[in-house]
Amino acid sequence: MVKKVILNRSGTDKIRSLNPWIYHNEIKKVSGVVEKGDVVYLYSPEGELLGTGYINPESKISVRVLAFFKKVNPDMDFVKDRVSRAFTKRIKILDRSDAIRIVHSEADGLPGLIVDMYGKYLSIQVNTAGMERLREYVIDALVKILDPEGIIERSDERSREKEGLQTENKIIYGKVPESIIINENNVRFYVHLEKGQKTGFYLDQRINRYIVSNYIKKGDQVLDLFSNSGGFGIYAGVKGAGDITFVDISRNVKPLIEKNCELNNIKRYTIYRENVFKFLTKVSRTEKKYDLIVLDPPSFAKNKHEAKDALRGFKFLVSKSLEILREGGLLAVFSCSYHISMEDLKKITLDVSKNLKYSLEIVKHLFQDEDHPYLLNIPASLYLKGLLIRKNEN
Ligand SMILES: C[S@@+](CC[C@H](N)C(=O)[O-])C[C@H]1O[C@@H](n2cnc3c(N)ncnc32)[C@H](O)[C@@H]1O
Repeated sequence: MVKKVILNRSGTDKIRSLNPWIYHNEIKKVSGVVEKGDVVYLYSPEGELLGTGYINPESKISVRVLAFFKKVNPDMDFVKDRVSRAFTKRIKILDRSDAIRIVHSEADGLPGLIVDMYGKYLSIQVNTAGMERLREYVIDALVKILDPEGIIERSDERSREKEGLQTENKIIYGKVPESIIINENNVRFYVHLEKGQKTGFYLDQRINRYIVSNYIKKGDQVLDLFSNSGGFGIYAGVKGAGDITFVDISRNVKPLIEKNCELNNIKRYTIYRENVFKFLTKVSRTEKKYDLIVLDPPSFAKNKHEAKDALRGFKFLVSKSLEILREGGLLAVFSCSYHISMEDLKKITLDVSKNLKYSLEIVKHLFQDEDHPYLLNIPASLYLKGLLIRKNEN
């Protein structure tokens, strides 16, 4: 029998505003003993049905909502319906790329599940105990709806640890080659499905790679900082940049950038396996100047306590980058942490502008691509934001 969870006032208010995460201290009472991953019905203190979710007493987020204000049975049909709706919503994006996110967790009504499509292959993450229980339905639904040649699991170690789960990454259906080629806006990339970061590629930046590349002029000197496999720099090369410098600390990315340059017929480039902070310090002591600089660091603030240090880090990065940017040049700066807001990015930029006496213009506000939806009632779902900034002549 499905157990009942009675929420307190604050939990009830959250559900009423369609927020799908309930913390331990928002639960008033649980009827009986629950195991991690159990499906539960949610009620207000007055007995009003608030929805269906799954519970994990070991996790900070105790309940994740599967459906609001109704009882659902998360069976095969339920999962199939959610996957099918998520896919249909994104079909138009396939005109631009054969690599897209199909399921984005809560934003697609399947909390704890990420599904990315890379051509004929799928890379998935099962990150919660509740979703672990639905694993078989998920694989079945993906095979029936998307007919992939293979599925690889790349679950997020940190998330699974928080849920008290172990991580094992492996091929869970069909065959998956070590690396494949994807085509994004007619720019091609090798993707390592087994070893690449995230599920293989930073799909959320697709729209921004495209927008930023439209500002490239023939012969531009481009600096792609925190480049990973070269996303922004490779686009710039395809658009005619004269020379591209890639900087990333990871030891795995150099051979990938080289292969991506070859694939897109890019000849003039340099790769540094280096800490960006050190690289910028060094270059800012020289006369070298760039026409476009991209700053796309990892999430410096995984929680609100880390935000202060992260802001200091950003200030350094923005300040040093602007020093080595030519007048009239562009800086694209991104934060993929929910705890650093668009306003934070602007405040940092304004502070730097005052300190260095640069006249700066915000050319564009940038966000994650639409296959990583931002749901208004889930503030944390807007995690990637960026600014395209022009350094005007004084
Ligand atoms: C968000 S990803 C960049 C994605 C990339 N722009 C793209 O479009 O594919 C961040 C990258 O920063 C690298 N990184 C993390 N810390 C670094 C550091 N201190 N210096 C240089 N690279 C770093 C990681 O290896 C990772 O590849």
